[in-house]
Amino acid sequence: MASQNLLLLPGDGIGPEIMLEVKKVIAWFNDKGGMSFETDEGLVGGCAYDAHGQAISDADMAKAMAADAVIFGAVGGPKWDDVSYDVRPEAGLLRLRKDMELFANLRPAICYPALADASSLKKDIIEGLDILIVRELTGGVYFGEPKEIRDLGNGQKRAVDTQVYDTYEIERISRVAFELARTRKNKVTSMEKRNVMKSGVLWNEVVTQTHANGYQDVQLEHMLADAGGMQLVRWPKQFDVIVTDNLFGDMLSDVAAMLTGSLGMLPSASLGAPDETTGKRKALYEPVHGSAPDIAGTGAANPIAMIASFAMALRYSFEQVAAADMLDKAIANALDKGLRTKDIAAEGQATISTAEMGDAILAELDAVSA
Ligand code: IPM
Ligand code: MG
Repeated sequence: MASQNLLLLPGDGIGPEIMLEVKKVIAWFNDKGGMSFETDEGLVGGCAYDAHGQAISDADMAKAMAADAVIFGAVGGPKWDDVSYDVRPEAGLLRLRKDMELFANLRPAICYPALADASSLKKDIIEGLDILIVRELTGGVYFGEPKEIRDLGNGQKRAVDTQVYDTYEIERISRVAFELARTRKNKVTSMEKRNVMKSGVLWNEVVTQTHANGYQDVQLEHMLADAGGMQLVRWPKQFDVIVTDNLFGDMLSDVAAMLTGSLGMLPSASLGAPDETTGKRKALYEPVHGSAPDIAGTGAANPIAMIASFAMALRYSFEQVAAADMLDKAIANALDKGLRTKDIAAEGQATISTAEMGDAILAELDAVSA
């Protein structure tokens, strides 16, 4: 494999702890997996604000633009509750998504057999669950203008966020969903609120059109996003690929995460369009969970979502499908052996630390690659 550049952005809270475990995994693939990753590191979020008053510096942003993939930990925490809105920790992540044009966010929710009891739902509802949420990531209410709080001058203020979608944005994200569905169970459920929102009406129209123009072999279904949330907890196995907008995708993917037992289990990939000459997509990989400041520094964080995010990097940025399968298998095997961080332990079950879980996954990598 030609040498590949990874930019590691550990961020805040548990970010640096879980990133340490990914570094071990990267080193394993360099030493024993025949790969050649070079890593560089940068600051994002609150730590970047502390260092230079911005949620990500222009220099680190330039590194992210040039990297073959960005591996991102988590940002935010109470320490930065009072910093101004433009430089809050989350602004760093949003700038990365926007400037790198990472419009397609893939959030797979898989229930590992060993964890079927860790979910708050009944075992038969989530056992064998394998769904993929495709979230639009660079549009909608996250970025629409105006976005402001106006002083009305009469003692009242008015807050405005703007939900806005253009045809091309809906079309390109639905293509991603249809194409991924073809590699899975061939079904796409599109979720919006066309009963209340104009953006939902257009979303529905464009997804339907895109389906008619080249994806008729894929089963398409439309669902109102609130009903979709309900169906996700009622009978999640009815879904294969869910495609939805930025805000609904944010909420529905947290719901989906809990189906799998813990927020600490869900990885994600954020992808741009293929480059016209090289065919390569800009990409950022991050766990769906946040910075969990309450447990930062205690060794209790679950590194699995972070490590599984690196598996997604192997799969989507480096075409190392066998290696990605191997890493996913190593995670499943560690879980099968009953190894649990605190978030996925049943009552009374013994728990291991972040580093111990990382080491256990490395040991399983040794075993599955032998
Ligand atoms: C996520 C997070 C982010 C989002 C935050 C940290 C800005 O919740 O990736 O789901 O809202 O997109
Ligand atoms: Mg979220």
